[in-house]
Amino acid sequence: MSEIHIHNLFPVPVMRVENFLGEDEIQATVDAIKSSPSMLNSQNELLSHTEVMRSDANEHYRNIGEKAQDYLRDFGFLLFGENLGWHIKEMWMNMLANGGHQSMHTHANSFISGVVYLTDSHESAKTVFHNTMGTRAYVFSNSHAESAITPYNADRWVASDMQCGDLLLFPSYMLHAVPRNEGRERISIAMNALPERLKSWDYEVSFQS
Ligand SMILES: [Fe+2]
Repeated sequence: MSEIHIHNLFPVPVMRVENFLGEDEIQATVDAIKSSPSMLNSQNELLSHTEVMRSDANEHYRNIGEKAQDYLRDFGFLLFGENLGWHIKEMWMNMLANGGHQSMHTHANSFISGVVYLTDSHESAKTVFHNTMGTRAYVFSNSHAESAITPYNADRWVASDMQCGDLLLFPSYMLHAVPRNEGRERISIAMNALPERLKSWDYEVSFQS
């Protein structure tokens, strides 16, 4: 029988950094940030966010920002093929109560986005990445009880292995959501990062925040 080779074309990287924060750092960060002023999500009152702040706004964000540098550089290399300097332009904390969810969204004006998990997430409330929602065109599908899900026909991917203390990095254009949380409160910190510059031969753009 002939050998078969499957080439995975144009995959999208998602990075999990295990134990990015230690237990003491997690507790100190939750204690300090959770009590700061927060606002309810416009679409779901069981989800609240603290104010969006710069990564040098307090010692806890600064700590996360400094620790994330090497991972942003390595993840950025996968996206852009170069070890670039990265700047976290904003961070905020999300508190998702039992029964709450985060609607599907992307992060605008950002290249790498990240989540630091400060609690474990209940099985029902793992971050879910969605494949593109399609364009304004008819779509053919073969999804039914007897069909299988493969890496090539999947609509979504669940970040099921993320645990308290882990960092997740993903390209900011990826659609993602958190389904209804059937467990206890889920706390995370989100971030957006920009490279110092991108260059395409003679055309260069730099970013400031
Ligand atoms: Fe998000």
